[in-house]
Amino acid sequence: MTGTRLLLTVALLCSCTQLLADANSWWSLAMNPVQRPEMYIIGAQPVCSQLPGLSPGQRKLCQLYQEHMVYIGEGAKNAIKECQYQFRQRRWNCSTVDNTSVFGRVMKIGSRETAFTYAVSAAGVVNAISRACREGELSTCGCSRTARPKDLPRDWLWGGCGDNVEYGYRFAKEFVDAREREKNYAKGSEEQARTLMNLQNNEAGRRAVYKLADVACKCHGVSGSCSLKTCWLQLADFRKVGDLLKEKYDSAAAMRISRKGKLELVNNRFNSPTQEDLVYIDPSPDYCLRNETTGSLGTQGRLCNKTSEGMDGCELMCCGRGYDQFKSIQVERCHCKFHWCCFVKCKKCTEIVDQYVCK
Ligand SMILES: *[C@@H]1O[C@H](CO)[C@@H](O)[C@H](O)[C@H]1NC(C)=O
Ligand SMILES: *[C@@H]1O[C@H](CO)[C@@H](O)[C@H](O)[C@H]1NC(C)=O
Ligand SMILES: *[C@@H]1O[C@H](CO)[C@@H](O)[C@H](O)[C@H]1NC(C)=O
Ligand SMILES: *[C@@H]1O[C@H](CO)[C@@H](O)[C@H](O)[C@H]1NC(C)=O
Repeated sequence: MTGTRLLLTVALLCSCTQLLADANSWWSLAMNPVQRPEMYIIGAQPVCSQLPGLSPGQRKLCQLYQEHMVYIGEGAKNAIKECQYQFRQRRWNCSTVDNTSVFGRVMKIGSRETAFTYAVSAAGVVNAISRACREGELSTCGCSRTARPKDLPRDWLWGGCGDNVEYGYRFAKEFVDAREREKNYAKGSEEQARTLMNLQNNEAGRRAVYKLADVACKCHGVSGSCSLKTCWLQLADFRKVGDLLKEKYDSAAAMRISRKGKLELVNNRFNSPTQEDLVYIDPSPDYCLRNETTGSLGTQGRLCNKTSEGMDGCELMCCGRGYDQFKSIQVERCHCKFHWCCFVKCKKCTEIVDQYVCK
Protein backbone atom coordinates (compact mmCIF):
# COMPACT_ATOMS: atom_id res chain seq x y z
CA MET A 1 0.00 0.00 0.00
CA THR A 2 2.64 2.49 1.12
CA GLY A 3 4.78 1.22 -1.72
CA THR A 4 2.18 2.04 -4.34
CA ARG A 5 1.60 5.45 -2.91
CA LEU A 6 5.29 6.15 -2.93
CA LEU A 7 5.55 5.08 -6.55
CA LEU A 8 2.63 7.26 -7.46
CA THR A 9 4.18 10.23 -5.72
CA VAL A 10 7.43 9.68 -7.53
CA ALA A 11 5.63 9.42 -10.83
CA LEU A 12 3.74 12.63 -10.14
CA LEU A 13 6.89 14.44 -9.15
CA CYS A 14 8.63 13.35 -12.31
CA SER A 15 5.91 14.53 -14.62
CA CYS A 16 5.92 17.76 -12.65
CA THR A 17 9.56 18.49 -13.22
CA GLN A 18 9.19 17.70 -16.89
CA LEU A 19 6.34 20.14 -17.17
CA LEU A 20 8.41 22.56 -15.20
CA ALA A 21 11.31 22.54 -17.59
CA ASP A 22 8.83 22.96 -20.39
CA ALA A 23 7.05 25.87 -18.75
CA ASN A 24 10.10 27.86 -17.93
CA SER A 25 11.71 28.01 -21.23
CA TRP A 26 14.03 30.48 -22.78
CA TRP A 27 14.47 32.45 -19.56
CA SER A 28 17.33 30.11 -18.84
CA LEU A 29 19.26 31.97 -21.54
CA ALA A 30 19.69 34.58 -18.85
CA MET A 31 21.44 32.14 -16.56
CA ASN A 32 23.55 30.23 -19.06
CA PRO A 33 25.42 32.84 -20.99
CA VAL A 34 25.20 32.34 -24.72
CA GLN A 35 28.52 32.29 -26.50
CA ARG A 36 29.37 35.34 -28.52
CA PRO A 37 28.50 34.76 -32.18
CA GLU A 38 32.04 34.99 -33.50
CA MET A 39 32.88 31.95 -31.43
CA TYR A 40 30.60 29.63 -33.27
CA ILE A 41 29.93 31.03 -36.71
CA ILE A 42 33.09 29.53 -38.15
CA GLY A 43 33.01 26.29 -36.25
CA ALA A 44 29.25 26.00 -36.94
CA GLN A 45 28.81 24.25 -33.65
CA PRO A 46 25.30 23.09 -32.90
CA VAL A 47 24.80 25.89 -30.39
CA CYS A 48 21.06 25.98 -30.72
CA SER A 49 20.64 22.34 -29.83
CA GLN A 50 22.73 22.89 -26.71
CA LEU A 51 20.85 25.87 -25.37
CA PRO A 52 18.45 24.76 -22.66
CA GLY A 53 14.80 25.65 -22.57
CA LEU A 54 14.03 26.41 -26.20
CA SER A 55 10.87 25.08 -27.79
CA PRO A 56 11.15 23.46 -31.24
CA GLY A 57 10.08 26.67 -32.98
CA GLN A 58 12.48 28.75 -30.95
CA ARG A 59 15.27 26.34 -31.80
CA LYS A 60 14.58 26.94 -35.48
CA LEU A 61 14.62 30.69 -34.96
CA CYS A 62 17.86 30.24 -33.08
CA GLN A 63 19.38 28.55 -36.12
CA LEU A 64 18.20 31.33 -38.42
CA TYR A 65 19.16 34.16 -36.10
CA GLN A 66 22.03 32.82 -34.05
CA GLU A 67 23.57 36.21 -33.46
CA HIS A 68 20.34 37.33 -31.75
CA MET A 69 20.63 34.80 -28.98
CA VAL A 70 23.16 36.73 -26.91
CA TYR A 71 20.77 39.67 -26.81
CA ILE A 72 17.78 37.54 -25.91
CA GLY A 73 19.84 36.30 -22.98
CA GLU A 74 20.76 39.86 -22.03
CA GLY A 75 17.15 40.93 -22.32
CA ALA A 76 16.04 38.12 -20.06
CA LYS A 77 18.74 38.94 -17.54
CA ASN A 78 17.71 42.58 -17.46
CA ALA A 79 14.09 41.57 -17.06
CA ILE A 80 14.87 39.36 -14.08
CA LYS A 81 16.82 42.18 -12.45
CA GLU A 82 13.94 44.58 -13.01
CA CYS A 83 11.42 42.09 -11.68
CA GLN A 84 13.48 41.67 -8.52
CA TYR A 85 13.71 45.42 -8.10
CA GLN A 86 9.97 45.95 -8.54
CA PHE A 87 9.12 43.18 -6.10
CA ARG A 88 11.90 43.67 -3.57
CA GLN A 89 9.42 44.64 -0.88
CA ARG A 90 6.80 42.02 -1.56
CA ARG A 91 6.23 38.55 -0.23
CA TRP A 92 6.93 37.13 -3.65
CA ASN A 93 10.24 38.75 -4.58
CA CYS A 94 10.81 37.30 -8.03
CA SER A 95 13.71 35.24 -6.81
CA THR A 96 15.17 32.73 -9.17
CA VAL A 97 15.54 29.17 -8.14
CA ASP A 98 18.00 27.55 -10.51
CA ASN A 99 19.34 27.74 -14.01
CA THR A 100 16.86 25.67 -15.91
CA SER A 101 13.58 26.51 -14.27
CA VAL A 102 14.68 30.07 -13.39
CA PHE A 103 11.62 31.17 -11.45
CA GLY A 104 10.62 27.74 -10.24
CA ARG A 105 7.32 26.03 -9.98
CA VAL A 106 5.28 29.14 -9.10
CA MET A 107 5.16 29.92 -12.81
CA LYS A 108 2.92 26.87 -13.27
CA ILE A 109 0.21 28.94 -11.64
CA GLY A 110 -1.44 31.51 -13.91
CA SER A 111 -1.25 34.24 -11.28
CA ARG A 112 -0.72 37.98 -11.43
CA GLU A 113 2.92 37.44 -10.57
CA THR A 114 3.34 35.04 -13.46
CA ALA A 115 1.64 37.61 -15.71
CA PHE A 116 4.16 40.25 -14.69
CA THR A 117 7.08 37.90 -15.24
CA TYR A 118 6.02 37.06 -18.81
CA ALA A 119 5.40 40.71 -19.64
CA VAL A 120 8.68 42.01 -18.28
CA SER A 121 10.65 39.22 -20.01
CA ALA A 122 9.08 39.96 -23.38
CA ALA A 123 9.81 43.63 -22.79
CA GLY A 124 13.41 42.77 -21.99
CA VAL A 125 13.82 41.07 -25.35
CA VAL A 126 12.31 44.00 -27.31
CA ASN A 127 14.62 46.33 -25.44
CA ALA A 128 17.80 44.33 -25.99
CA ILE A 129 17.15 43.57 -29.67
CA SER A 130 16.12 47.16 -30.50
CA ARG A 131 19.36 48.45 -29.01
CA ALA A 132 21.50 45.78 -30.62
CA CYS A 133 20.09 46.86 -34.01
CA ARG A 134 21.03 50.46 -33.38
CA GLU A 135 24.49 49.50 -32.27
CA GLY A 136 25.02 47.56 -35.47
CA GLU A 137 25.41 44.23 -33.72
CA LEU A 138 22.93 42.34 -35.89
CA SER A 139 23.18 41.77 -39.61
CA THR A 140 19.42 41.76 -40.20
CA CYS A 141 18.65 45.21 -38.81
CA GLY A 142 20.09 48.67 -38.33
CA CYS A 143 18.95 52.07 -37.13
CA SER A 144 15.26 52.71 -36.64
CA ARG A 145 13.39 53.74 -39.74
CA THR A 146 10.44 55.26 -37.97
CA ALA A 147 8.88 58.14 -39.87
CA ARG A 148 9.54 61.63 -38.64
CA PRO A 149 7.01 62.57 -35.95
CA LYS A 150 4.51 65.14 -37.25
CA ASP A 151 4.89 67.41 -34.24
CA LEU A 152 8.65 67.72 -34.53
CA PRO A 153 9.59 71.41 -35.12
CA ARG A 154 10.32 71.97 -38.77
CA ASP A 155 13.91 73.06 -38.49
CA TRP A 156 14.95 70.07 -36.44
CA LEU A 157 16.60 67.25 -38.30
CA TRP A 158 15.17 63.75 -38.11
CA GLY A 159 17.72 61.12 -38.80
CA GLY A 160 20.05 60.27 -36.01
CA CYS A 161 20.48 56.53 -35.58
CA GLY A 162 17.58 55.46 -33.38
CA ASP A 163 16.79 52.30 -31.44
CA ASN A 164 15.00 49.96 -33.81
CA VAL A 165 11.89 49.32 -31.74
CA GLU A 166 9.89 48.10 -34.74
CA TYR A 167 12.36 45.32 -35.41
CA GLY A 168 12.73 44.56 -31.69
CA TYR A 169 8.99 44.29 -31.35
CA ARG A 170 8.58 42.04 -34.38
CA PHE A 171 11.44 39.77 -33.47
CA ALA A 172 10.35 39.44 -29.84
CA LYS A 173 6.85 38.58 -30.98
CA GLU A 174 8.16 35.90 -33.28
CA PHE A 175 10.56 34.42 -30.76
CA VAL A 176 8.84 34.78 -27.40
CA ASP A 177 5.38 33.79 -28.63
CA ALA A 178 6.67 30.84 -30.66
CA ARG A 179 6.31 28.39 -27.79
CA GLU A 180 2.70 29.40 -27.19
CA ARG A 181 1.73 29.18 -30.82
CA GLU A 182 3.14 25.67 -31.15
CA LYS A 183 0.52 24.37 -28.79
CA ASN A 184 -2.87 23.29 -29.90
CA TYR A 185 -5.11 22.77 -26.92
CA ALA A 186 -8.78 22.02 -26.88
CA LYS A 187 -10.97 25.11 -26.99
CA GLY A 188 -12.08 26.14 -23.55
CA SER A 189 -9.51 24.01 -21.73
CA GLU A 190 -7.36 25.19 -18.82
CA GLU A 191 -4.28 24.79 -20.99
CA GLN A 192 -5.73 26.98 -23.70
CA ALA A 193 -6.60 29.59 -21.08
CA ARG A 194 -3.00 29.65 -19.94
CA THR A 195 -1.72 29.93 -23.50
CA LEU A 196 -3.98 32.91 -24.17
CA MET A 197 -2.94 34.46 -20.89
CA ASN A 198 0.74 34.18 -21.78
CA LEU A 199 0.20 35.64 -25.25
CA GLN A 200 -1.72 38.60 -23.86
CA ASN A 201 0.93 39.35 -21.23
CA ASN A 202 3.81 38.96 -23.69
CA GLU A 203 2.08 41.52 -25.91
CA ALA A 204 1.51 43.93 -23.01
CA GLY A 205 5.20 43.74 -22.20
CA ARG A 206 6.28 44.44 -25.77
CA ARG A 207 3.87 47.33 -26.06
CA ALA A 208 5.19 48.92 -22.89
CA VAL A 209 8.62 49.25 -24.51
CA TYR A 210 7.10 50.50 -27.76
CA LYS A 211 4.91 53.02 -26.02
CA LEU A 212 7.63 54.47 -23.83
CA ALA A 213 10.20 54.87 -26.61
CA ASP A 214 10.46 58.58 -27.33
CA VAL A 215 12.18 61.23 -29.37
CA ALA A 216 15.61 62.29 -28.18
CA CYS A 217 17.52 65.23 -29.63
CA LYS A 218 20.99 66.64 -29.66
CA CYS A 219 22.04 70.24 -30.16
CA HIS A 220 24.51 71.41 -32.75
CA GLY A 221 25.47 74.88 -33.73
CA VAL A 222 28.03 77.51 -33.00
CA SER A 223 29.23 77.43 -29.41
CA GLY A 224 26.30 75.51 -28.07
CA SER A 225 23.73 77.86 -29.60
CA CYS A 226 21.49 74.91 -30.41
CA SER A 227 20.47 76.45 -33.71
CA LEU A 228 20.40 72.98 -35.14
CA LYS A 229 18.92 69.87 -33.60
CA THR A 230 19.18 66.26 -34.68
CA CYS A 231 16.55 63.90 -33.31
CA TRP A 232 15.98 60.17 -33.27
CA LEU A 233 13.88 57.50 -31.59
CA GLN A 234 15.22 56.31 -28.25
CA LEU A 235 14.23 53.57 -25.85
CA ALA A 236 13.13 54.65 -22.40
CA ASP A 237 15.18 53.62 -19.42
CA PHE A 238 14.14 50.04 -18.62
CA ARG A 239 13.19 51.13 -15.10
CA LYS A 240 10.33 53.12 -16.63
CA VAL A 241 9.15 50.00 -18.44
CA GLY A 242 9.29 48.13 -15.12
CA ASP A 243 7.33 50.89 -13.38
CA LEU A 244 4.64 50.87 -16.05
CA LEU A 245 4.30 47.09 -15.98
CA LYS A 246 4.13 47.17 -12.18
CA GLU A 247 1.14 49.51 -12.49
CA LYS A 248 -0.37 47.07 -14.96
CA TYR A 249 0.26 44.31 -12.42
CA ASP A 250 -1.66 46.24 -9.78
CA SER A 251 -4.62 46.65 -12.11
CA ALA A 252 -4.38 43.22 -13.79
CA ALA A 253 -7.69 41.69 -14.85
CA ALA A 254 -8.93 38.33 -13.60
CA MET A 255 -10.06 36.24 -16.57
CA ARG A 256 -11.58 32.85 -17.30
CA ILE A 257 -11.94 30.86 -20.46
CA SER A 258 -15.26 30.74 -22.27
CA ARG A 259 -16.58 27.64 -23.97
CA LYS A 260 -15.81 29.26 -27.29
CA GLY A 261 -12.17 29.45 -26.29
CA LYS A 262 -11.84 33.17 -25.55
CA LEU A 263 -10.67 34.82 -22.35
CA GLU A 264 -13.42 36.78 -20.67
CA LEU A 265 -13.62 38.86 -17.54
CA VAL A 266 -14.57 37.02 -14.36
CA ASN A 267 -16.34 40.14 -13.23
CA ASN A 268 -17.82 42.01 -16.16
CA ARG A 269 -18.45 45.15 -14.18
CA PHE A 270 -14.85 46.01 -15.02
CA ASN A 271 -13.59 47.28 -18.35
CA SER A 272 -12.21 44.72 -20.73
CA PRO A 273 -8.42 44.68 -20.75
CA THR A 274 -6.72 46.28 -23.73
CA GLN A 275 -3.62 44.83 -25.38
CA GLU A 276 -1.54 46.91 -22.99
CA ASP A 277 -3.00 45.29 -19.89
CA LEU A 278 -1.99 42.25 -17.88
CA VAL A 279 -4.38 39.39 -17.29
CA TYR A 280 -4.37 36.35 -15.03
CA ILE A 281 -6.49 33.25 -14.63
CA ASP A 282 -5.54 31.82 -11.22
CA PRO A 283 -5.47 33.32 -7.75
CA SER A 284 -1.99 33.79 -6.34
CA PRO A 285 -0.69 30.98 -4.15
CA ASP A 286 0.08 31.69 -0.51
CA TYR A 287 3.53 33.30 -0.58
CA CYS A 288 3.79 33.34 3.22
CA LEU A 289 4.81 29.76 3.77
CA ARG A 290 7.22 27.56 1.93
CA ASN A 291 5.29 25.06 -0.14
CA GLU A 292 6.87 22.46 -2.39
CA THR A 293 3.68 21.97 -4.37
CA THR A 294 3.14 25.57 -5.37
CA GLY A 295 6.83 26.46 -5.42
CA SER A 296 6.38 29.29 -2.93
CA LEU A 297 9.61 30.00 -1.05
CA GLY A 298 7.86 31.59 1.92
CA THR A 299 9.01 34.72 3.71
CA GLN A 300 10.98 33.14 6.53
CA GLY A 301 14.35 34.85 6.75
CA ARG A 302 13.27 37.89 4.72
CA LEU A 303 14.30 41.33 5.94
CA CYS A 304 11.42 43.54 6.95
CA ASN A 305 10.87 47.11 8.10
CA LYS A 306 9.64 47.39 11.66
CA THR A 307 8.06 50.81 11.23
CA SER A 308 6.53 50.46 7.78
CA GLU A 309 2.84 49.73 7.40
CA GLY A 310 3.29 48.69 3.79
CA MET A 311 4.01 45.27 2.29
CA ASP A 312 7.63 45.57 3.45
CA GLY A 313 6.54 46.08 7.06
CA CYS A 314 7.24 43.17 9.40
CA GLU A 315 3.56 42.63 10.12
CA LEU A 316 2.58 41.94 6.52
CA MET A 317 5.88 40.53 5.28
CA CYS A 318 6.07 37.96 8.09
CA CYS A 319 2.36 37.15 7.82
CA GLY A 320 1.88 37.66 11.55
CA ARG A 321 4.49 35.05 12.52
CA GLY A 322 6.69 37.62 14.20
CA TYR A 323 10.29 38.55 13.58
CA ASP A 324 13.76 38.45 15.06
CA GLN A 325 15.94 41.46 15.62
CA PHE A 326 19.66 41.54 15.01
CA LYS A 327 22.34 44.17 14.80
CA SER A 328 24.30 44.65 11.65
CA ILE A 329 27.25 46.83 10.86
CA GLN A 330 26.87 49.09 7.89
CA VAL A 331 29.82 50.78 6.29
CA GLU A 332 29.17 54.01 4.46
CA ARG A 333 31.17 56.70 2.76
CA CYS A 334 31.00 59.89 4.77
CA HIS A 335 32.65 63.27 5.42
CA CYS A 336 33.38 63.54 1.73
CA LYS A 337 35.57 66.43 0.67
CA PHE A 338 36.12 67.80 -2.77
CA HIS A 339 39.76 68.33 -3.63
CA TRP A 340 40.98 70.74 -6.35
CA CYS A 341 41.09 69.35 -8.98
CA CYS A 342 39.24 66.92 -9.39
CA PHE A 343 38.58 64.22 -6.93
CA VAL A 344 36.47 63.49 -3.90
CA LYS A 345 37.90 61.92 -0.79
CA CYS A 346 35.68 60.21 1.72
CA LYS A 347 36.05 58.52 5.05
CA LYS A 348 34.48 55.24 5.97
CA CYS A 349 31.96 55.42 8.74
CA THR A 350 30.51 52.39 10.41
CA GLU A 351 27.12 52.40 11.94
CA ILE A 352 25.33 49.74 13.92
CA VAL A 353 21.76 49.38 12.75
CA ASP A 354 18.88 47.23 13.90
CA GLN A 355 17.52 44.82 11.35
CA TYR A 356 14.55 42.54 11.44
CA VAL A 357 13.96 39.20 9.79
CA CYS A 358 10.79 37.16 9.57
CA LYS A 359 10.40 34.07 11.75
C1 LIG B 1 24.15 27.97 -13.23
O1 LIG B 1 24.84 28.76 -14.17
C2 LIG B 1 26.04 29.33 -13.67
C3 LIG B 1 26.61 30.27 -14.70
O2 LIG B 1 26.69 29.65 -15.94
C4 LIG B 1 27.00 28.19 -13.29
O3 LIG B 1 28.19 28.72 -12.77
C5 LIG B 1 26.32 27.30 -12.25
O4 LIG B 1 27.15 26.20 -11.95
C6 LIG B 1 24.98 26.80 -12.74
N1 LIG B 1 24.27 26.12 -11.67
C7 LIG B 1 23.57 24.99 -11.86
C8 LIG B 1 22.87 24.44 -10.66
O5 LIG B 1 23.48 24.44 -12.95
C1 LIG C 1 0.70 23.74 -0.42
O1 LIG C 1 -0.21 24.30 -1.31
C2 LIG C 1 -1.25 23.46 -1.71
C3 LIG C 1 -2.03 24.14 -2.82
O2 LIG C 1 -2.42 25.43 -2.43
C4 LIG C 1 -2.11 23.13 -0.50
O3 LIG C 1 -3.18 22.29 -0.86
C5 LIG C 1 -1.24 22.46 0.56
O4 LIG C 1 -1.98 22.24 1.73
C6 LIG C 1 -0.01 23.31 0.85
N1 LIG C 1 0.91 22.53 1.67
C7 LIG C 1 1.45 23.00 2.78
C8 LIG C 1 2.42 22.12 3.47
O5 LIG C 1 1.17 24.10 3.22
C1 LIG D 1 13.76 36.47 -2.01
O1 LIG D 1 13.19 35.68 -1.01
C2 LIG D 1 13.79 34.42 -0.87
C3 LIG D 1 12.96 33.58 0.07
O2 LIG D 1 12.70 34.21 1.28
C4 LIG D 1 15.23 34.63 -0.42
O3 LIG D 1 15.87 33.39 -0.24
C5 LIG D 1 15.96 35.44 -1.49
O4 LIG D 1 17.26 35.75 -1.08
C6 LIG D 1 15.24 36.72 -1.82
N1 LIG D 1 15.81 37.25 -3.03
C7 LIG D 1 16.08 38.54 -3.21
C8 LIG D 1 16.63 38.94 -4.54
O5 LIG D 1 15.88 39.37 -2.34
C1 LIG E 1 11.00 51.79 7.00
O1 LIG E 1 9.74 52.38 6.76
C2 LIG E 1 9.66 53.74 7.14
C3 LIG E 1 8.19 54.16 7.00
O2 LIG E 1 7.67 53.78 5.76
C4 LIG E 1 10.63 54.55 6.28
O3 LIG E 1 10.57 55.92 6.63
C5 LIG E 1 12.04 54.01 6.48
O4 LIG E 1 12.94 54.68 5.63
C6 LIG E 1 12.11 52.53 6.21
N1 LIG E 1 13.41 52.02 6.61
C7 LIG E 1 14.17 51.30 5.80
C8 LIG E 1 15.46 50.83 6.36
O5 LIG E 1 13.85 51.04 4.65
